[in-house]
Amino acid sequence: MPNWLNDAVFYEIYPQSFCDTNGDGIGDIEGIISKLDYVKSLGCNAIWLNPIYDSPFMDAGYDVRNYKKVAERYGTNDDLVRLFNEAHKKGIKILLDLVPGHTSDQHEWFLEAKKAAKSEYSNRYIFTKSVWDAPPQYRMMCGLCERDGNYMVNYFSSQPALNYGFHEITHPEWQLPCDHPDCLATAEAMKDVMRFWLDKGADGFRVDMADSLVKNDDDKIATAKIWRGVRDMLDREYPNAAMVAEWCNPERAINNAGFHMDFYLDHYGNGYSRLFRYGEFGDQAVFNPNGKGDIKAFADEYLPNYEKTKDNGYISFMTNNHDMPRVTAYLDKEAIKLVNAFIFTMPGVPFLYYGDEIGMRYQKGIVSKEGGYSRTGSRTPMQWNSGKNLGFSTSDEPYLAVDKSADAPTVENQKDDHDSIYKVVTDIIALRHKYDDLKGNGELEFMYEEGKIPFAYKRGNLVMYFNPLGESAVMNAKYTGKTVYSLGNAEFANGKVTMSPQSFALVEIDG
Ligand code: NOJ
Repeated sequence: MPNWLNDAVFYEIYPQSFCDTNGDGIGDIEGIISKLDYVKSLGCNAIWLNPIYDSPFMDAGYDVRNYKKVAERYGTNDDLVRLFNEAHKKGIKILLDLVPGHTSDQHEWFLEAKKAAKSEYSNRYIFTKSVWDAPPQYRMMCGLCERDGNYMVNYFSSQPALNYGFHEITHPEWQLPCDHPDCLATAEAMKDVMRFWLDKGADGFRVDMADSLVKNDDDKIATAKIWRGVRDMLDREYPNAAMVAEWCNPERAINNAGFHMDFYLDHYGNGYSRLFRYGEFGDQAVFNPNGKGDIKAFADEYLPNYEKTKDNGYISFMTNNHDMPRVTAYLDKEAIKLVNAFIFTMPGVPFLYYGDEIGMRYQKGIVSKEGGYSRTGSRTPMQWNSGKNLGFSTSDEPYLAVDKSADAPTVENQKDDHDSIYKVVTDIIALRHKYDDLKGNGELEFMYEEGKIPFAYKRGNLVMYFNPLGESAVMNAKYTGKTVYSLGNAEFANGKVTMSPQSFALVEIDG
């Protein structure tokens, strides 16, 4: 296990929207390099970079045309290596985004595979034997190739699924078993991509749709086996490299597949949305001040996952990512402060999505860009200052329009505002680095009273008390001590704590 993960706090950068230094309207690697000190000033010591590879951008780069080439709009491979080096000088690690489940339909492997002539890539993707064969249970593209056969897609129509084989074979005439040499070759090709970037200085990968490799693999045993092989390679050859899965099933991702971290999202109904985005416009979310949320339901889902995986890896909470509406679409500023206090004091490895530190707003109803659709509103340019395009770019045609509101938050106007989300995010991250009990490995004891909204959790010698309600509330205080950080007021007396509306207290236990 790379030991830097215990104190890691990640910052997710969507490169096209972060910082444009050459005035073409699109963020670039040079822009990221220029903002490394900013990332560091937040307290983040690791970056997850969304795909920066050559791509036709039908899905914002998750449709990779060449895994080993940086997209021209972001710079060159040398620029990326420079980013690794500059980041390392500042103590920042960089994870690239690995997209192992599919490529672009423009990838040279696919261009070869779709030809009638056989080649070493004929089985790199999943083709039926004839165009008349399109079993409805699989997502097939029909009649587009010279080759007689239909091919399976993994996500959008432009993203043919790579072939790692089938666990249950239902159509033996075209489905290969996972141990077929051509399926094993796909996994080797992906390891080759990983080695290519690790050798150049990358610190690991965020793995896209990590559970999607082997088909008809309901319990994901065969898919996990492939990742175990990858983890063995890392342990042997790159012991400091880390992988975080977009799997969202910690037991499978961490215990079975060997990932160091797994994102805690809702894919397997594990309760992430319950915290911040649950119900219509978040009205059932735990942190909604209306008191309709249910921390017990969250704890019942989360704690078994945590207990089962805590010795093998980390669950990763995120403020948001590029696929979900920003939390500003659901909760008010005070609630969002509590959300951040929660995310950055829980065990595991937390992720901050660019712009969430200043409370950037989800831009509703904007026209889709590069396959973003409803996700586009969370992908608008970073808001730096009051300059043109809020400091993102000097272009008249930025990648996406910036927030046009007169009171749009920017780094410049949030930084010195003592009542800002920025202040809370940076304060809490600093506390996380200061106290060992708040880091990834620390212990966790959850405390709540049945049917009540306020809750607390203890980590080592520290206790975090939360009152998400829009009114004062009293809860049992099993542990008391010195309040080292608070949002609002918390008065401790006679084994109880009385907390002001939407408040948080971080208490260091006496003795
Ligand atoms: C998950 C990524 O986060 C998303 O943005 C992408 O569209 C799909 N996987 C397909 O790669």
